[in-house]
Amino acid sequence: MSETKIISVTNDKGGVGKTTTVHNFGYALMKKGYRVLLVDFNAQCDLTAELGIAEPDAENNTLCDAMRPYIMDTDDFLETAECIRTNPNGLDFLPATQELADLETLMIQAYQREMILSSILQEIAGQYDFILIDCPGSLGQLMVNALLASNEVILAAFPEKNSLAGLSKIMNFIDQISRRMHREIRVRGVLFNRVDVRETDLNKLLTDAKAHVKRDIPFFNNWIPKRVSVARAVEHAASIFEYEPSSDAAIAYAKLVNEYLKWTGGEKRNGKSA
Ligand SMILES: Nc1ncnc2c1ncn2[C@@H]1O[C@H](COP(=O)(O)OP(=O)(O)O)[C@@H](O)[C@H]1O
Ligand SMILES: [Mg+2]
Repeated sequence: MSETKIISVTNDKGGVGKTTTVHNFGYALMKKGYRVLLVDFNAQCDLTAELGIAEPDAENNTLCDAMRPYIMDTDDFLETAECIRTNPNGLDFLPATQELADLETLMIQAYQREMILSSILQEIAGQYDFILIDCPGSLGQLMVNALLASNEVILAAFPEKNSLAGLSKIMNFIDQISRRMHREIRVRGVLFNRVDVRETDLNKLLTDAKAHVKRDIPFFNNWIPKRVSVARAVEHAASIFEYEPSSDAAIAYAKLVNEYLKWTGGEKRNGKSA
């Protein structure tokens, strides 16, 4: 792959599996030999904690430190590379602190406020094949920044009625940003997470979801089942691949990554099968 793909994993709701997906999808890509960076862009800092930083707020050189000079009156610029950590399992990530919430409020006055994350990521983009952004659960300035830093979006969704209804709201938001800023932001697909396979009529769910979205966007064929091991892996600051590699949730994430790579034509790396 020659170009870096920057993917926002998003939804304006919490609890739909954004953080879990960024972590597991990223880990699976890394294991295939891709260079991967994960970005915590949610003020709850769940991804930072999941990647092994017990007290995110005690950290220096975080994404917030890189963003601050773009927003406050200071020329104390920090190189993005100085903020990157590698977790014990080999995943590179940009940690965040709760200050992200304050920066979002202050951002309103900043010059080219929509492009701050994009500028920060462009500094290091060439070093990675994939950058996955764990988005905030609301449609504010941070979300606009995440979308405009991205080439693609994966919409994480919970398979129930309210969550499906929310899909068209976020799709409209993405359309608006894309049109106003003259940027193509491709919605790569909707990913259902925490699916109770026995209780869910998968065909009906898909039909309902398509009716709600009212436009032609792809839904991933591989869905992530609801499994305690996924939540337990989080508690152990591990991906599902490390915590329970033989679980069907790990298999589902691996298949999902293959499905994604097949779609994007990125399944081959350096001329070899990944
Ligand atoms: N497939 C799954 N099966 C069981 N629990 C899950 C699954 N995916 C996520 N969870 C749990 O659900 C909660 C919400 O997931 P999370 O990824 O944090 O959502 P979001 O980032 O959208 O708020 C977390 O506690 C997580 O451990
Ligand atoms: Mg989250």
